[in-house]
Amino acid sequence: MKKIRKAVIPAAGLGTRVLPATKAMPKEMLPIVDKPAIQYIVEEAAASGIEDILIITNRGKGLLEDHFDRAPELEDRLMGSPEKEAMLEQVVALSRLANIYYVRQKETKGLGHAVSCARSFVQGEPFAVLYGDDVIFGKDPVCAQLIRAYESYGVGVVGVKEVSPEAIRKYSSLKVEPLRDNLFRCTDMIEKPAPGQEFSLYSILGRCVLPPEIFDILDDTPPGAGGEIQLTDAMRTLARRDGMTAVDFTGTRYDMGSKLGIMQASVEAALAHPEIGTDFRAYLKELSKSL
Ligand code: UTP
Repeated sequence: MKKIRKAVIPAAGLGTRVLPATKAMPKEMLPIVDKPAIQYIVEEAAASGIEDILIITNRGKGLLEDHFDRAPELEDRLMGSPEKEAMLEQVVALSRLANIYYVRQKETKGLGHAVSCARSFVQGEPFAVLYGDDVIFGKDPVCAQLIRAYESYGVGVVGVKEVSPEAIRKYSSLKVEPLRDNLFRCTDMIEKPAPGQEFSLYSILGRCVLPPEIFDILDDTPPGAGGEIQLTDAMRTLARRDGMTAVDFTGTRYDMGSKLGIMQASVEAALAHPEIGTDFRAYLKELSKSL
C-alpha cells in the first residue's frame, strides 16, 4: 500500500459568512491569537508525516505564500535582539514545515471542484484533504488518525463527529456501521440533508483521506447542494462502490468560517497560550461577573 505523503488544503472559498474580514483576505489567514488558522492546519499535516502540501487558493495567494516563505528583512531585525531569539526560531521553522505548493481555483465552483484542481499534484497517490477553515486542537493530530485508518483498511477515510439535529442540515450525514473502537464502515452519505433524509448524526468535519480514483469520480459529479460541485457527492459514489472508513476523531474542531467558531477558537487558544494564558483567564473571570 502506498504511504500517504501528500496533502491538499482547499482555501479558495469566498468566506461570505465572515465578511467583511474576508473581502480581500482568505478566511484561512484569520489569526487565532498569534497564528493564522492555516498554520495550525499545515502544522497538523506536518506532524502527521505529510511532506508535500498543495494549497488551493484564489484571493490572497500572495499573503499565503509570504507566510510560509523566508522573510530575510524580518529575520535580520529579530537576529539583532536577544529577547526576540525565540521568535526568530519560530519564523524560520515556519518556512521549513513542509514543501508547500500553490494552485489557483479559477472559479469558485465548490469544495469538490477545488479538490479536482489537485489532480496533477497528487500524481496517482492516495492523499489527505484538510479543509482550510477547520482547525482541530488535540494531542493526536487528526490527519494522522485518518492515515492510520487508511493503513488498516485500505479504503478512503473521513473524519467524523456526531452533531446536533439542527447542525446536520448544514453539513453531511453518513450511513455507518461500527467496525471497532472509534472506527465505522461508511457505505453512503448525503450533503445538507433535508429533514427525514439523514442517515445518522455523524457528519464529515474537515478531514479525509482519498484514493486517486476520486478525480475521475469528481469529473463526473454534477453540481449539487447550492449549485456547487460537492466533495461529499463524489465521496458518496466512492462509499457506495468501495466503502469508506469513518473515524470519530479525538480533538476539538472549530469552524473558522463562522463568527462563533472564530471566537471559540480564539478564547481556547488564548487560555492555553504560554505568554498570555494566565492574564487572559483572570480577565475572563472578571468579565464573567458582569455578564
Ligand atoms: P465552505 O463551504 O465552508 O467555504 O468550504 P465558503 O464557500 O468560503 O463558505 P461561505 O461563503 O462562508 O459559506 C469549506 C472549505 O473549502 C474551501 C473553503 O476555502 C474552505 O476551506 N473551498 C470552498 C474552496 O477551496 N473552493 C470552493 O469553491 C469552495
